[in-house]
Amino acid sequence: MAVLPVLVYPDERLKQVSAQVTEFNDDLRRLIADMEVTLRSFPGCVGLAAPQLNHFQRIVIVDVSARPDIPHHGCLILINPEVVEKDGEAVGREGCLSVPDFTGNVARAERIHLRAQDSRGHVQSFDCEGFEARAIQHELDHLDGLLFLDRLVSRRDLFRRKNYK
Ligand code: NI
Repeated sequence: MAVLPVLVYPDERLKQVSAQVTEFNDDLRRLIADMEVTLRSFPGCVGLAAPQLNHFQRIVIVDVSARPDIPHHGCLILINPEVVEKDGEAVGREGCLSVPDFTGNVARAERIHLRAQDSRGHVQSFDCEGFEARAIQHELDHLDGLLFLDRLVSRRDLFRRKNYK
């Protein structure tokens, strides 16, 4: 397992649309293991998408379980994820390992019904809400080449930050 380097804005590769995963093999599981150790190497980070690590496949990890008192599903490994239903809207602050110097306010659905495959290709579905739903929607955007910078509520909703946390 290895911590992989993270692509940082304005790297053009972050705009690439990732491909569906079709082979559920050891290579895939190795990449997922690398994604997990890379995520864990950034304390406070709640999600990561494979294209941020220069692997243009539809794989994301989201784990908001360290945040106190919010509903969550533990460490979610989502392959070929799809939001099949969404409901409500809320504005919240987002950050991203690929945009280390800024945070921004983005509107997201408050509740989502999600379908995804696991590392063996089995289809699962999840109902997510609040911060977990926000983190998932943020990571899914990476699979389509979008950053939170593309979804700011307004230009004034971008904030410089001093250190990543
Ligand atoms: Ni991100």
